[in-house]
Amino acid sequence: MATFGRGICIITGASKGFGRALAHEMSHSLEPGSVLLLVARSGTLLQDLKEELHSFSENQQLIVHCIAVDLSTREGVNETVRMVKQEAVNEIDHVLLINNAGSLGEISGFENFTDLEMVNSFMSFNVSSALALTAGVLQAFPCRAGLRWNVVNVSSIFALKALPSWVLYCTAKAARKMMFSVLAEEEPNVKVLSYSPGPMDTDMQEDILRLTGVSHCLLPCQESAVKLVKLLHNNDYPSGKHLDFFEV
Ligand SMILES: NC(=O)c1ccc[n+]([C@@H]2O[C@H](COP(=O)([O-])OP(=O)(O)OC[C@H]3O[C@@H](n4cnc5c(N)ncnc54)[C@H](OP(=O)(O)O)[C@@H]3O)[C@@H](O)[C@H]2O)c1
Repeated sequence: MATFGRGICIITGASKGFGRALAHEMSHSLEPGSVLLLVARSGTLLQDLKEELHSFSENQQLIVHCIAVDLSTREGVNETVRMVKQEAVNEIDHVLLINNAGSLGEISGFENFTDLEMVNSFMSFNVSSALALTAGVLQAFPCRAGLRWNVVNVSSIFALKALPSWVLYCTAKAARKMMFSVLAEEEPNVKVLSYSPGPMDTDMQEDILRLTGVSHCLLPCQESAVKLVKLLHNNDYPSGKHLDFFEV
């Protein structure tokens, strides 16, 4: 099986949904001695995931750390970067950062978003924290010969398509797409992918159903995670590209 070599892989939003499925898929592609950092608020769910991953015999030499932090706070981002820096002493030949954590936010008419604090808080988590975290990890592992670098931005069709009443979500996903396009232009040694995973059966979709009454035909998270890992292995997309589950 193709591997990513001896790597460090950081997955935000790993406690459930797509991030959790991705942690499983990535764990099969990392060589012994690799480090997997799982980030989310729920320490219990992360710990369960760590045990699940270690229960597969092939993963026993994978070093898994759980980082139970709130990425909407400065402390949460700083603590994650601090944990990443601790691993920078190890011999690593591949850095994979998967910016997956995200939230739906309020779904409501445009004219209802008068609360600057609420809007800022949404953008702070969904946009700014991904920027500050990626910058911190780039500082921890500066580009050098022999070091492969991948950044994934877990995006959405709504980074490209405007949907009435979804101003928070659409704006954040569009901003993230541009943010990671800038990184791709700026850093030729960092391979950047914005991946729209398709409609998946997760808690976020349950919230969408509850808030809008609209149900979608949903994919199992694992199906989309397998596709993303394959894309990373094949490595034949231009850096900065936005790709959707249904077009690859
Ligand atoms: N589901 C879909 O159909 C769909 C479609 C397109 C794109 N996406 C995108 O895919 C990504 C994952 O979505 P999902 O459906 O798997 O969502 P989900 O089931 O709601 O999971 C979200 C993840 O983010 C973590 N998270 C939320 N707030 C956090 C915070 N403040 N600090 C740290 N971690 C936080 C959650 O863990 P804790 O609660 O433990 O913190 C959880 O692990 C998101 O970026 C979403 O926009 C999803």
